Amino acid sequence: MRILSVVGARPQFVKLAPIAKAMEGRAEHLIVHTGQHYDELMSDVFFQDLGIPAPDFNLGVGSGRHGEQTGAMLAGLEKVFETARPDVVLVYGDTNSTLAAAIAAVKIHIPVAHLEAGLRSFNRRMPEEHNRVLTDHASDLLLSPTQVGMDHLANEGLAGRSVMVGDVMTDVLYRVRDELASNDQPLPAGLKTDGYYVCTIHRPDNTDDPLRLKAIVDSLATLGRPVLLLAHPRLKALATSHGIDLTTGSLVLSDPLAYPQLVNAVANSAGVVTDSGGLQKEAFLMRVPCTTIRPETEWVETVELGWNVLVNDDLSQLAGIVERPAPAPTDATPYGDGHAAQRTVDALLETFGK
Ligand code: UD1
Repeated sequence: MRILSVVGARPQFVKLAPIAKAMEGRAEHLIVHTGQHYDELMSDVFFQDLGIPAPDFNLGVGSGRHGEQTGAMLAGLEKVFETARPDVVLVYGDTNSTLAAAIAAVKIHIPVAHLEAGLRSFNRRMPEEHNRVLTDHASDLLLSPTQVGMDHLANEGLAGRSVMVGDVMTDVLYRVRDELASNDQPLPAGLKTDGYYVCTIHRPDNTDDPLRLKAIVDSLATLGRPVLLLAHPRLKALATSHGIDLTTGSLVLSDPLAYPQLVNAVANSAGVVTDSGGLQKEAFLMRVPCTTIRPETEWVETVELGWNVLVNDDLSQLAGIVERPAPAPTDATPYGDGHAAQRTVDALLETFGK
């Protein structure tokens, strides 16, 4: 059976790593990179460090407005699918690359499987929310990471096409964490274990309005420990154009980290402050307290278990929340056992195998 994965943005490369491994010897696996992320630190290092085979096709689409970027992918992917003739197209998460691949495939009658199906923020301002809902409804097989995701799919009438496989980011995180345990890595910028916070901010709702971005930065700058700010290119570009200094007070500005270095930095930190989806969950899996600058989260389990606190409207509370006392320990495993990729390949072969 021939399975074709479409990826394009940083979190998708992380999810692809365990899937590509689990495909070995079980299916013919082709990879398409749309080129949504193209900087070395946003793309190439993930393929190198996580041992992902080089993509068979790279569309080189690059950045652009939503319609322009998604449209260019749609046109490019249709040609690739017609050439490669896969038995199923596997799409990941909620980016513009995900939606473009799902639409391109169904229009030419190639079945689609969606990994990380069923997540919902119910926030219609987020492009990702539209990408996920539309992709789930277009897909033939919905591979959900959590029971909450399965419940959302059932509520939308999609239970018959849904399978719970667990979260593949757990697979890759556990693998990298175990590799790090046998290989002592230095911390970035001379930081000391438990002596700093890790921070990422990249969502348009936090970066695009100068007043909001300044309020976030000003609050982070007052924290009592250094804040390792891993700056996405969007954050750097907008801070420069808004005239906001990302090196003030406690802030320690850094380029994005490669995945193993990120896991190491989070594991040794006193806490995470972010608006990323994946990082909230990675912090939880390593039992590092997280503060999320968003009105809601798709990963509700992290909040319910006390390891993640949301801050959105009242940013004057941000510093106090980041510096809150440690949460109660938990041994809950809402994101699976680290074998989600294996179950994903099982489900693909069972559903689409000939
Ligand atoms: C995308 C995803 C988001 C995901 C994030 C992970 C969508 C709608 N959003 O957001 O869900 O959480 O990836 O990082 O698909 N840029 C570069 N170099 C790069 C990539 C981007 O300089 O390699 C800059 C460009 O100026 C670009 C901006 O970052 O315009 C935003 O990139 P884009 O891919 O549109 O969205 P992300 O914010 O990365």
